[in-house]
Amino acid sequence: MTYTERNVAGQVATTLDAIDAGTPVTTEHTGLLDQYHAGGVGAVDKLITWLALSPGDTVIDVGSGFGGPARRIAEQTPATVVGIDITPAYVDAAKTLTTRMGFADRVEFRHADIMDMPVDQPYDAAVTMHVQMNVEDKPAWFAAIAAVLAPTGRLAVWEVCTTDGRQPPWPMPWSLDGSDSFLCTPADLKQAITSGGFDVVEWEDETAWVNAWSAATLDDDAPRPGLILPMLLDDGLTRVVNFADALRDGTLTVMRGAFTKAAP
Ligand SMILES: C[S@@+](CC[C@H](N)C(=O)[O-])C[C@H]1O[C@@H](n2cnc3c(N)ncnc32)[C@H](O)[C@@H]1O
Repeated sequence: MTYTERNVAGQVATTLDAIDAGTPVTTEHTGLLDQYHAGGVGAVDKLITWLALSPGDTVIDVGSGFGGPARRIAEQTPATVVGIDITPAYVDAAKTLTTRMGFADRVEFRHADIMDMPVDQPYDAAVTMHVQMNVEDKPAWFAAIAAVLAPTGRLAVWEVCTTDGRQPPWPMPWSLDGSDSFLCTPADLKQAITSGGFDVVEWEDETAWVNAWSAATLDDDAPRPGLILPMLLDDGLTRVVNFADALRDGTLTVMRGAFTKAAP
């Protein structure tokens, strides 16, 4: 079982308290703490470009983690964002960061599973980043996302696949021992998304870009909070190193997809 960390919000709050009150904390600043996917804020920006969000648009971030992607969308676009996540401790941490970073008027987080979520409003767009690896029935997962979107809804995904069926060494960021990992190939993931009710606009292999980002990040000495993601996760350093290795040696692939909701 993965995602069992508990006092994440407390650790985050302590880190934020150590930053001078009044110092603006930007999404660039927290990118290595709250972006729980390969590629950091740059990966979110790639999804934002396709989503082309306008004032009044609403976005749902499915599996929002510590809320980094949702806050980046709010910072870079005029949209409002609702993040949902199944892990209560992550939702608490997302709320703590959002309040401290000044996004609470346009970003909210709820503890929910997309498979059980009531449709309280049709969203204009959905994003999901590094979540479907934990989902066995992928067509049902994407159908549940389609169900909360307006008829003209857009979907942007940033997802990990097995390149050719090989499994990576565990632990990985989304699974400690592989028992809750359901990796599939890029072709099978694209098929699952279209079966769930979407038409493909773009389907791009971003692994080379991610590997370049990882190499540059290691050399980067930009200011950041004292806490970074591997320190928040159980066995975090091993998980992050294993992931980077599996992307470099070709076991894993990161895919970016842009989709529109299919006509009924
Ligand atoms: C690897 S993290 C990615 C978090 C975030 N998307 C990001 O990129 O920063 C995967 C997240 O998916 C969430 N998750 C897994 N299964 C879920 C489900 N059925 N419904 C909602 N969230 C889920 C986990 O709690 C975790 O926060």
